[in-house]
Order: sequence, then structure tokens, then C-alpha cells
Amino acid sequence: MTHDSLTVVTASPAETKAVAAALAPELLPGDTISLSGDLGAGKTVFVQGLASGLGVTEPVTSPTFTIVHEYDGHYPVLHLDVYRLGSFQEVIDLGFDELSDPTAILVVEWGEAVAPLLPPKHLAVEIRLAGPSVDGPGERLLTFGPRGGQWPGRLEHMRRRAEELLASQGGSVPGETRWAVASRHPGREDEGGIDVNQET
Ligand SMILES: Nc1ncnc2c1ncn2[C@@H]1O[C@H](COP(=O)(O)OP(=O)(O)OP(=O)(O)O)[C@@H](O)[C@H]1O
Ligand SMILES: [Mg+2]
Repeated sequence: MTHDSLTVVTASPAETKAVAAALAPELLPGDTISLSGDLGAGKTVFVQGLASGLGVTEPVTSPTFTIVHEYDGHYPVLHLDVYRLGSFQEVIDLGFDELSDPTAILVVEWGEAVAPLLPPKHLAVEIRLAGPSVDGPGERLLTFGPRGGQWPGRLEHMRRRAEELLASQGGSVPGETRWAVASRHPGREDEGGIDVNQET
């Protein structure tokens, strides 16, 4: 069995938020999302879109100095950033011996750095800079890598919802070139790199 990963191009923070908001209705307490990718790629922007899609009205900011933020939406949303933590042990010392909470939706920035602490079933989202500059609006590649569970079907729902949202925003990237699917092979689920060349 292969797990297909889904990649989408966004051209602005608003588009990244729209894709994240389109994922929100698929989420239930107990779900874990790990965000990784370049510094300043848009992980926190993604969480902002996700949180607003989950009914969170308070501002979502980077939890870099507090490690964890908790927001109240339709469900509790826990937002962690483990970037500053030096080791697994530090994460464990903070009480996150297992990065999952059955009562909340958990979103972890730099989650792949502590992958062994993540539940085996989670959604790995990788955000990469697609353009030369970090400043101002720029293209980003968002790759959704299902790690077990029911994610493939949920991602298909996300994609349909996102296409509608992006079209209503007057998105500049044509729908046909915006999305790409790549197959992941059995036994390679733990590999970080995702090959987006293999379009289907
Ligand atoms: N397509 C895009 N999607 C998301 N953010 C974008 C996009 N284009 C430009 N940006 C800008 O990139 C920056 C992303 O910042 P953000 O704090 O979300 O990154 P991050 O990945 O959380 O960084 P860190 O690694 O420090 O946690 C923002 O300044 C945002 O305006
Ligand atoms: Mg961040």
C-alpha cells in the first residue's frame, strides 16, 4: 500500500491560511499535525488559518518562547513549537513524554525533530519556500504527508474545499498546476523527503 502525499502551491499568506482552513473541518480531538520546513516558511501562518477554521477567534502567535499555546475553538487547540528545545529529554521534561492529547487537536511546529514522540498516526505538513525571498508575498510548497489513519480521504476533502476557497479569493495559480500527488512506498513512511516529481 502506498500513502500518497499531496502538494499545493500557495502564492501568499492568505492562500496558505485558506488551505489550512480547508483542512480544519476534517480534524477531530486526538489528531496531531506536525509542521516542518524552512525557517520563516509559514508554519505559524498555517496554524493561524487552521485555528480560524476551527473557530478560534483569539490571535494566534508563535509559541517560540512559551513552547505551548492553548486556544479555544470548536475543540481545544494546542500549538507547540519545539524549535528552541535542545533535546528529546527537554521535551520529555516539559511533560510531553508523548506528543498527543485525546481531548485536543495538537499542532507541533518543528514536529519532525521529535518524530519519535509523535503518535504513529499523524499528518506531517512540510512547508518550503518556492521563491527566492522570505520577505513579502511569495510562493510556498505545502506538502501533506499522511502517516497512517484516515488521512488520504480527509486530504481529498481538504483539496476540494481549498479549491473553492482559493477560487473565491481570485487565486493566481491555475488549479491544474497548483496540486501534485506523489506516491510514498511501503516501509519508507518515516523518511522525511518527499518526491513531488511523480505527478499522477
Ligand atoms: N505563501 C505564503 N504562505 C505563508 N507565508 C508567506 C507566504 N508568502 C510569504 N509569506 C510570509 O512568510 C512569513 C512566514 O512566517 P511564519 O512565522 O509563519 O513562518 P514559520 O515557518 O512559522 O517560521 P519559524 O520557523 O520561525 O517558526 C510571513 O512573514 C508571511 O507573511
Ligand atoms: Mg513559527
